[in-house]
Amino acid sequence: MTQDELKALVGQAALQYVVPGEIVGVGTGSTVNKFIEALASVKDQIKGAVSSSEASTARLHALGIRVFDCNDVTELSVYIDGADEIDAQGHMVKGGGAALTREKIVAAQSRQFVCIADESKLVKTLGAFPLPVEVIPMATARVIRQFAVMGGVAKIRQKDGHPLVTDNGQHILDVSGLHITDPLAFETQVSQWPGVVTVGVFAHQKSHVCLLGTENGVKTLVF
Ligand code: 5RP
Repeated sequence: MTQDELKALVGQAALQYVVPGEIVGVGTGSTVNKFIEALASVKDQIKGAVSSSEASTARLHALGIRVFDCNDVTELSVYIDGADEIDAQGHMVKGGGAALTREKIVAAQSRQFVCIADESKLVKTLGAFPLPVEVIPMATARVIRQFAVMGGVAKIRQKDGHPLVTDNGQHILDVSGLHITDPLAFETQVSQWPGVVTVGVFAHQKSHVCLLGTENGVKTLVF
C-alpha cells in the first residue's frame, strides 16, 4: 500500500470514534483530509465540527459540514488529528502543517484525542522530525538562541521566499537536532519562554488512541 492509501485507511477507521448527534473536533493535514472526506458520508448524523485551521474549515465547508466557533462549544467528545511523530506513550510532535496552536486548543477542549497516522510516524524518541514552534516574530532571534543552548538548530519556516505566516499571524521555527526524552518536561519548559506561542510537542494534550496504518491493516494503540 502507498502512504496515501494508508492515510485513507486510518481516515476511514476514525469514523468509529465519531459520536452521532455531536460536534467532532477536526485536525489538519493530509491524513485528516482523508478523514474529512470520510466524514462527509456521515455528515447528516453529526451536528458539525470544530476545526483547527482555515484549511480544514474550507474543506469541511466545501463538503457541506457546519463548522462551529471553538468559543461556542464547551467540550468535545473526540478530536481527530494526525501527527508528525508519535511515541509509544502517545506523546506527539505536531505542526508540520503550521496549525499546532489551534490544534492544541481544540485538543485541550476534547475528552479524547484520536491520532491517525501511517506507521512511518511511530518513533522511539521524539525529535528526528524538526520540531515546529509558533513564535511571535519579535522574539524569533531570542528563541533561536535558547534552542541553540539545548543543541537545537532553529530555522524560520519559509513560504514563497518569505517567513510563513500562520492562521494566527505569527511565524514558525523548525528546530532540528533535538532528542526529546522527557516530552512532558520539555513542553512545560519551552512553553514558558517569552514569545513562544505554542511548542509542537503534545504531551499535556497527548493522544489517547492511535489508529496506525500498517501493511497489515489498521493497528489500534491505546495509551
Ligand atoms: C498540522 C499537523 C499534522 O497533523 C501533521 O503535520 C501531520 O500531517 P500529515 O497527516 O499531512 O502527515 O500537525 O499542523
